[in-house]
Amino acid sequence: MPILNRQITLAARPEGMPQESDFRLVERPTLPLRPGTFLVRTEFFSVDPYMRMRIREESYAQPTNIGDVMPGRAVGRVIESKHPEYHPGDAVAGEWGWQEYAVSDGKGTRRVEESLAPISTALGVLGMPGMTAYFGLLEIGRPKAGETVFISGAAGAVGSLVGQIARIQGCRAFGSAGSDEKVAYLTQELRFDGAFNYKEVRDYTAKLEELCPGGLDLYYDNVGGPVSDAAFECINVGARIVVCGQISQYNNRTMARGPRLLWRLVVQQARAEGFMVHQFADRFPEGLRQMAAWIREGKISYRETITDGIQNAPKAFIGLFTGQNIGKQLVRVAKG
Ligand SMILES: NC(=O)c1ccc[n+]([C@@H]2O[C@H](COP(=O)([O-])OP(=O)(O)OC[C@H]3O[C@@H](n4cnc5c(N)ncnc54)[C@H](OP(=O)(O)O)[C@@H]3O)[C@@H](O)[C@H]2O)c1
Repeated sequence: MPILNRQITLAARPEGMPQESDFRLVERPTLPLRPGTFLVRTEFFSVDPYMRMRIREESYAQPTNIGDVMPGRAVGRVIESKHPEYHPGDAVAGEWGWQEYAVSDGKGTRRVEESLAPISTALGVLGMPGMTAYFGLLEIGRPKAGETVFISGAAGAVGSLVGQIARIQGCRAFGSAGSDEKVAYLTQELRFDGAFNYKEVRDYTAKLEELCPGGLDLYYDNVGGPVSDAAFECINVGARIVVCGQISQYNNRTMARGPRLLWRLVVQQARAEGFMVHQFADRFPEGLRQMAAWIREGKISYRETITDGIQNAPKAFIGLFTGQNIGKQLVRVAKG
């Protein structure tokens, strides 16, 4: 008997800030299992800032079409299998998007090691955001002990890990985030050396000069916009700028153009470099091993913001752009 599968599809391309009406909840029967496939029941799926770019008409990768199931990573459990390597009860992670069930042939799917941490972490600290923090900071930023690292979007899934990894490397970590609660999380729970609420502070350059009088050796940029403009003003000679994301720009109808700050790279002989986490895909096993070890040793802690119910996924996604989440934003579809 096919199972009724609830899915969230794209109903309209958002103009500016996404609206709940841009998404639709639909019900469709699951496809029958063919030999070499298995049926997985989703426990959690991820909502991520990059999805905003993927639902534009023109995207950096294959855009999602109207009527398509929203793309994204998910974790769940195999409930029926005609695949030789996947068995009922196995926890798996893959890219089957915003839906309650999926039929997979195993391509792009991995088994989740349940002894390490709860399976939801395969979408966060032990998944794509964790790898983004790890390789973005260590390989693109190349921090050295004693350096000052500033992270924008510091209380989110990626930023909260970047600061902790920077401290493990012997650096001083500073961050910006959008609420006093987030600032307290960074400085008290994650032991950042300092942080500020960019929604309250008016002069970001003055604030950075006050927090980091010796200047910035490394800026890990998650947000772009005015916070990044201020960080550029404060970089030291030989600084590295890791361009990870520009979330403040993702809802713009056209790309913002502003004062040119690249002269700061000239005078400070600095380097700004963008990256995509998948360029490090062949090294993910190494990154995952190290992150898991740091969690076990108590050197990395992580938070998840969990929204219950597939029908609330659009709200959770939109919340990324108003800062509703601390750490990794997830949608819980079923209890394991
Ligand atoms: N290069 C890659 O391969 C790669 C991979 C993953 C993620 N990324 C990028 O990394 C960044 C963080 O991703 P994430 O998954 O960790 O998301 P996240 O930080 O967990 O969530 C997004 C956060 O961005 C902040 N934000 C939203 N609008 C903002 C604005 N206008 N100005 C400043 N901050 C704003 C909000 O926090 P506040 O309360 O602080 O505003 C929100 O909580 C994003 O730019 C994403 O695109 C890049």
